Amino acid sequence: MPGGVKTDVRTYQMYINGDWVDSKSNKTFPVYDPAAEETIAQVPDSNADDVNRAVAAARAAFDDGAWPATTAQERGRILFRLADKIRQNAAMLAELEARNCGKPIVEAEFDINDTATCFEYYGGLATKVLGYVNPVPDNAMSLTLKEPIGVAGQIIPWNYPLLMAAWKLAPALAAGCTCILKPAEQTPLTALEMAKWFADVGLPPGVVNVITGFGETAGAPLVQHPDVNKIAFTGSAAVGKIIVKQAADTVKRVTLELGGKSPNIFFADADFEAAIDGALFGVFINQGEVCSAGSRILVQKPIYKKFVDAMTAKAAKIKLGAPLDRDTKMGPLVSKEQYDRVRSYQEVGKKEAKLAFGGGRAASFAKGYYVEPTIFYDVDNSARIAREEIFGPVATVIPFNDEKDAMKIANDSPYGLAAAVWTRDIFKAFRVVKALRAGIVWVNHMQPTYVEAPWGGYKQSGFGRELGPWGIEEYLETKQVHINLSEQPIGWY
Ligand code: NAI
Ligand code: MG
Repeated sequence: MPGGVKTDVRTYQMYINGDWVDSKSNKTFPVYDPAAEETIAQVPDSNADDVNRAVAAARAAFDDGAWPATTAQERGRILFRLADKIRQNAAMLAELEARNCGKPIVEAEFDINDTATCFEYYGGLATKVLGYVNPVPDNAMSLTLKEPIGVAGQIIPWNYPLLMAAWKLAPALAAGCTCILKPAEQTPLTALEMAKWFADVGLPPGVVNVITGFGETAGAPLVQHPDVNKIAFTGSAAVGKIIVKQAADTVKRVTLELGGKSPNIFFADADFEAAIDGALFGVFINQGEVCSAGSRILVQKPIYKKFVDAMTAKAAKIKLGAPLDRDTKMGPLVSKEQYDRVRSYQEVGKKEAKLAFGGGRAASFAKGYYVEPTIFYDVDNSARIAREEIFGPVATVIPFNDEKDAMKIANDSPYGLAAAVWTRDIFKAFRVVKALRAGIVWVNHMQPTYVEAPWGGYKQSGFGRELGPWGIEEYLETKQVHINLSEQPIGWY
């Protein structure tokens, strides 16, 4: 802080049943600014007691409260009003997000805008949930009704804190569910700020509860709670596997978004300048802390050498800096834990492949969890740095011969979240789109994400889809209704 003035450390409460409360244990834990390496807030440290209280509130709001009686129009208007509050307070939210995550302020501003857009989209979609009339034989009318699943537990990560909250809350509320949101322990602040508007915009008590806490102590009891009908999770594959197992006992609906090791594939005929930008943007945006990071960069052999050289030259110009500085293109990683993790992969990479750029801590910063953008090349696809999600600014460049070779390497991964291909040959582009085993495929671009289009992975990147009409579907049950139109006696007894 300038002049050595220490920022005020605010103690937050959390939001349960429309009230601001401490954890029952009265314990709190610190939340950090990863650039300054200092505590910026204290938040309640929840355990199963607090989870029980939040689930009881969400259950009551769903079963007996005002929420099930609201119309889709009313729920839509609530989401629009929440979006308006977010837009009116966008500067405050973006600054807090940037400070807490370490992400560049300009990226945080995009995130907050996308957050509001997500609430607006689902505000509109609330009134577009339709049923069916099923063409059954017999003198009967068969209907399909769509109904909210009930109480949703939503566990989210720290890389896009408020946006991930919106991806979870917006479709759930549009569908008529009630929610318990557990932000990541690293980044709960913007969700708590947003909760201050819930009552104003018309959310009845208990409809959205925000509990702060750690995975094992607050996340796990939510996953295991018998009164929770669905868990939506975004985070690590390791935790996703635990959640599936723990949710099995109560047969919860589960959706998982677990990240990946997404291939970004460059054929020799691609627009070279655009390709270099696409490779760097694909893997270094948000410090590489992105589930869909294009962390495996597959380059066709005729342009391989030139490509690695051009990427390296341009990576050297990426401006690392303070998150709140508008010129900053890359900030620190979110936490000491993530910094240690990425640093250890940089060291693994040095043993497994050749280093073109970076490979260590960003030396010019006295403080903060800064690492250098790092490029490894001549990486074998079987190397750990090509198979394991690093979740930091570490690119692995892999050469390939031809289309068949590229597809073999691209699909040889336990993950299948996203992929991108760069070529000017439309025949090749479409063949590759079909061949790639991934939930999202970009052609001559990487990373654009729209609330109107589905998001989710193949293979160990998870299951279920967020965003678009697919996103609301995950919060709806399907009820079959049979209406007998015949007044004749039924049966044969
Ligand atoms: P994590 O998967 O442990 O945390 C994500 C969320 O899950 C947090 O809210 C956390 O509190 C919660 N959680 C943790 N353990 C839980 C449990 N047993 N039951 C219920 N909830 C639990 O991720 P972490 O440790 O922060 O990051 C480790 C790695 O995970 C990263 O390096 C990255 O590879 C991956 N990751 C992927 C993300 C994605 O967008 N797909 C987001 C964050 C991390
Ligand atoms: Mg973890």
